[in-house]
Amino acid sequence: MLEFNWKNVDCSVIGVEDGIDVKKEFENYKDKVAAIVSDIYKNRTTSGRWLAWMNLGYNEELVKEINEYAASVKGKFDNLVVMGIGGSALGAIAVSEALLKPYWNLLSKEARNNFPRIFVLDNVDPDQINGLLDSIDIKKTLINVITKSGNTAETMSQFMIAKERLEKALGANYKQNIVTTTDKEKGILRKIATDEDFKSFIVPDDVGGRFSVFSSVGLLPFALVGINIAELLRGVRELDKQLSNTDINSNVAAQGALVQYLMDKKGKNLSVMMPYSSRLRFVSDWYVQLWAESLGKEKDVNGNVVHTGPTPVKALGATDQHSQIQLYNEGPNDKVITFIRVKKFDTELKIPNVYTDTDLAYLGGKTINDLINAEADATKAALVDYKRPTVTISIDKVDEYNLAQLLYMLEIQTAIAGGLYNINAFNQPGVEQAKNYINALMGKKGFEKIAEELSKKMKA
Ligand code: PA5
Repeated sequence: MLEFNWKNVDCSVIGVEDGIDVKKEFENYKDKVAAIVSDIYKNRTTSGRWLAWMNLGYNEELVKEINEYAASVKGKFDNLVVMGIGGSALGAIAVSEALLKPYWNLLSKEARNNFPRIFVLDNVDPDQINGLLDSIDIKKTLINVITKSGNTAETMSQFMIAKERLEKALGANYKQNIVTTTDKEKGILRKIATDEDFKSFIVPDDVGGRFSVFSSVGLLPFALVGINIAELLRGVRELDKQLSNTDINSNVAAQGALVQYLMDKKGKNLSVMMPYSSRLRFVSDWYVQLWAESLGKEKDVNGNVVHTGPTPVKALGATDQHSQIQLYNEGPNDKVITFIRVKKFDTELKIPNVYTDTDLAYLGGKTINDLINAEADATKAALVDYKRPTVTISIDKVDEYNLAQLLYMLEIQTAIAGGLYNINAFNQPGVEQAKNYINALMGKKGFEKIAEELSKKMKA
């Protein structure tokens, strides 16, 4: 179960002038928040509102279809290579890192229970792409190419390289090694998948990339490496019901959205996500995209120029205590630090009683679990001493059910924050602009005029 802990954003700790009186603000904003929650829940099936991600938890048909495909290829491949970028990759990275056994790719096939290793190529670094494809046996590799638009230059370039290598290695049989995930009709990848008869899954309409982790974009790679996708969706469904509550006092996503929003208005416009769990470290990357692309907007829904959006920052406890915490404690008081705490780790790891006659004696007999919890408690206490606002999200353990709830809560929190900022949280005109420029610079047909303007700008 998810829990929020508001103690350290309460005025009794940080002072009303520094922070916010949470209880009072819940009261002040209760009608506004209720209207926002009610609006998103009412419109979850309204075409064009881009809220269809709220329905993904209920798609049991898709779970069946994906599990059938995953079962049909199980044992045939040593490697799964996911090719995608942004919302088409970050969910795969966050969830597989969290739920697979640590160092999964180093485990034997038996220890992986016959499931493949997983690699996510989410960049166009020539050394990385070549390095990976040169290091694995391409014949024993399944490529899942994921792009909602079907046109993204980064993803499609990687795919073209892999396809050529597969064809060279396997001749006509190479198609078995490719599975595509894209829009049902739009985009070049859909045409290729149809023309070349690749196995294919659909990215549903009205689901943006950063909200697509519970669609085939995430579920397919998860199932291919043995993650229980039915259990993920069970977590989503159960939380979905709770988050439909329009009373802010009973809705953790609404509370989270309001606290972040009000802190931003008070000049604390950096939103730091700091899990105390290495397995959750890439949840921060996923959150950074979700928060940044959804809330960073030039205009509000009425067309006023607002240039709004808090800046998300990723950190990892305890590692970044030795890197960023100096700044967070003593630097500008412009951040809200969100801790993610895990109540029960899979392993209890004892520190042995060696070096009993030294200053290390106090550690002997304790556990690494005690240590990481003490690190989080100590860091939070120090931040509170410096009057820095913190938020704590606790989850019982890192498993399918709890992780899915964490991600879904953050999605709903983002949607509610969009309502508070009065912006469209579901478009990304700034990303599209850069995509157009890439197409122009790479000489894509139809982008000649933009290329000409760009070349003038670059010369100026
Ligand atoms: O959230 C988004 O919409 C973006 O980050 C996209 O996921 C990203 O740009 C990749 O787009 P596509 O899936 O169309 O290749």
